[in-house]
Amino acid sequence: MGDKKIFLYSTEGEEQGALPVIEGSYGPDVIDVQNLHEQTEMFTFDPGYLSTASCESSITYIDGDKGELYYRGYAIEELAKQSSYLECCYLLLNGELPGADALGEFEMIITEHTMVNEAIRRFYEGMRYDAHPMAITLGVVGALSAFYHDSIDIRNPKHRTISAHRLIAKMPTIAAYSYKYTMGQPFMYPNNQLGYSENFLHMMFANPAFEYKVNPVAARAMDLILILHADHEQNASTSTVRLAGSSGTNPFASIAAGIASLWGPAHGGANEAVIRMLEEIGTKESIVHYVERAKSKEDSFRLMGFGHRVYKNHDPRARIIRKACYELLDSLNERDTPLFETALELERIALEDDYFIEHKLYPNVDFYSGLILKALGIPLNMFTVIFAMARTAGWIAQWSEMLDDPAQRIGRPRQLYTGATPRPYVEIGER
Ligand code: CMC
Repeated sequence: MGDKKIFLYSTEGEEQGALPVIEGSYGPDVIDVQNLHEQTEMFTFDPGYLSTASCESSITYIDGDKGELYYRGYAIEELAKQSSYLECCYLLLNGELPGADALGEFEMIITEHTMVNEAIRRFYEGMRYDAHPMAITLGVVGALSAFYHDSIDIRNPKHRTISAHRLIAKMPTIAAYSYKYTMGQPFMYPNNQLGYSENFLHMMFANPAFEYKVNPVAARAMDLILILHADHEQNASTSTVRLAGSSGTNPFASIAAGIASLWGPAHGGANEAVIRMLEEIGTKESIVHYVERAKSKEDSFRLMGFGHRVYKNHDPRARIIRKACYELLDSLNERDTPLFETALELERIALEDDYFIEHKLYPNVDFYSGLILKALGIPLNMFTVIFAMARTAGWIAQWSEMLDDPAQRIGRPRQLYTGATPRPYVEIGER
């Protein structure tokens, strides 16, 4: 902590105290308000955390104005180009890129944990046949503590590591099973000869009746989506994982809380919404009508996949994934199909439109990830499940960092109370 301070004065100009400023290693400093209440008997008020740093973290850094994203100091552009999802998981969990031996060992451990306890397979059967795969995934991850309670002592480092490995390894299996269950198809066991993303596609699309070979272009596109979604600083679901975990609950319960938060359309549901919107637009000819609707103050319609709360110039993930999206559409010969044609034309029109330029609204990562997942034949209701699968690594890294923080306490926000002032109880006959 440096010597910088923010002084507090009353309206009469009387000094009421001083708040220390804490410097980050990169990016904005923060005002430490922990003693504010002691000094002033007041709380800060910041619903939605627009100006509040909820924790100290050394995992992920975002600069929304410059359009930068780093995992442990490594630019997302370099990771997307040169790394793999599992290497990024190692990086997020351990803080450093692994050497060849460490990476090999990590990949082997994850591969060894891909199967789920057979009793979990039966657990799916308790779900209704037409349940949303996200509902199933949420329930199954929450239930993992009932199956793996040999590793839920959060103060035991070995338990934490085993739980982290189990979660990363089993998420693709749990996700693919949730899809297979809703399709009424047999579950496919993981094939440990395959890479992480390849294995997920195998469990999604293979069935015992015919041989299915995973397209390497599809596997790489899936791996890229996982890398780009692996972590994103203190977003809603990550903050939920931290808050749930701050009470000392087990890792599976904490991650299930994150999945619940991610499920909402304002968070993980956007790429699904992109495809639904494109289906509604239907043809290239209708685009102008929808763009005009998005611009109208009287209409609540928004172009899904455009704009971002933090990135106000460009979303760095969108730049990376845009290129991958175009390459994939070309390699699958899909560019001319009506949905993708409409998407690419919408992208062109919006990028040239004065309203979108002035409002700094650019296609975000979800615009392109939606298109890629659709091109890979992934059903819409699995898009958010895949997001959850990717974000599991970030959630665990953030949860573990929180537990290691010596200053860690249970998360307990305060409030601005605006309800009734104290009043006497009124007997029922007198109300
Ligand atoms: N289409 C049309 N107008 C828009 C859009 C859009 N997609 N997004 C923002 N605007 C306008 C908005 O109407 C407002 O205009 P004005 O100032 O004239 O009233 C202005 O731009 C600022 O909007 P805002 O709602 O104050 O901005 P925000 O930072 O609170 O919202 C957002 C960010 C992502 C919620 C919003 O841009 C949006 O709803 N986008 C569509 C949904 C979407 O694609 N979400 C995925 C985001 S990426 C997910 C991730 O990183 O995990």
